[in-house]
Amino acid sequence: MRVCSIVGARPQFVKAAVISRKLREVGEEVLVHTGQHYDEELSGVFFDELDIPEPEYNLGVQSDTHGRQTAAMIAALEPILEETEPDAILLYGDTNSTLAGAIVGSKRDLTVAHVEAGLRSDNWEMPEEVNRVLTDHASSLCFAPSRTAVTNLAEEGITDGVHWTGDVMYDAILDARERSRRRSTILEELDVAEESFVLATVHRASNTDDPENLAAIIDGLSDASLPVVFPAHPRTASRLREFDLWDRATRDLRVIDPQGYLDFVRLLDATERVATDSGGVQKEAFFLSTRCLTLREETEWTETVDCGWNRLVGPNARSIHESLHEDWEPESSPHPYGDGAAGRRIVRLLQERLAVADPERRV
Ligand code: UD1
Ligand code: UDP
Repeated sequence: MRVCSIVGARPQFVKAAVISRKLREVGEEVLVHTGQHYDEELSGVFFDELDIPEPEYNLGVQSDTHGRQTAAMIAALEPILEETEPDAILLYGDTNSTLAGAIVGSKRDLTVAHVEAGLRSDNWEMPEEVNRVLTDHASSLCFAPSRTAVTNLAEEGITDGVHWTGDVMYDAILDARERSRRRSTILEELDVAEESFVLATVHRASNTDDPENLAAIIDGLSDASLPVVFPAHPRTASRLREFDLWDRATRDLRVIDPQGYLDFVRLLDATERVATDSGGVQKEAFFLSTRCLTLREETEWTETVDCGWNRLVGPNARSIHESLHEDWEPESSPHPYGDGAAGRRIVRLLQERLAVADPERRV
């Protein structure tokens, strides 16, 4: 089987790292990097640390408006699919790179496979929600990380080709936790001890592009009784400057560059608690038994909230303050995201599906 995998943004590199090598053991992969993330610290470092194969193609589509960025990816992807003639296109998550792949793949009548299918925040103003819903509806194989995701798909009439697989980020973190404890020196470099700091990340458009929300988050975090380590996404750094919040942020928080995966996992493992608007970080916090404050009003990772590990505090200074100071205890530790074998399951399901679609083709 020949599978064309599309990646473009930081969390997709982490997910592809789990699947890419396994895929290449049983078939052929054409890995395409759209170029959505291009800075070394958002892209190159992940390929090096996670030993992801060098992409066969890099589309070089950099930052732009959503429409132009997605359109440029679509235009650049089409000739690659024509040239390489894959049996399937494999998509991850909910970025513009995901949506571009879904559109080109479904127009060319390929098997479109979506990893992390069925997630819903029910917030249609969130660009990622639009990308998720459209991608799921264009996909012939939906790999759902949780039972909730399977139910969400069924509620929208998607039942064919839906498979519960567990979450690939759980596979990734099981490997990374031990490696990061052995290899990362980030705690020493920052001179912070385990459980003696708070970690925070912000990059969601609804927070970075709204000066009131961004200011409220900085307000809330500035009130922490422990030092706050804040690896700033480039989008966040530029908005902090634009909204005259940079001086305050750098005075009250330990603002640092975005970190590579192993250093970031080390920080997330060691932190007293984390405040984030990231989807992936909410989940990883849960996997590492780190309490999480989510700087949003809703989440697609609802199980983490239901069991008490995650609190939705919104971009609200008072709620952030309260949840930073309160000594809340999670109620339970369920395992809704699988057993760490999602990657293996996904590759097997792809093999089975493509063997049925074309029994003549060797898989
Ligand atoms: C994108 C995804 C988001 C995902 C996030 C992961 C969409 C709509 N958004 O958000 O779902 O959670 O990636 O981090 O697909 N920039 C740089 N260097 C880079 C990349 C971006 O400086 O290498 C800056 C540019 O100013 C750019 C801004 O960051 O305009 C936003 O980048 P973009 O890829 O559009 O969105 P993200 O916020 O990164
Ligand atoms: N991450 C990282 N360095 C950082 C911040 C995040 O390696 O400085 C990793 C994090 O461990 C997770 C992924 O990036 O695996 C999450 O990406 P992000 O928060 O950008 O996107 P989202 O998950 O919200 O789509």
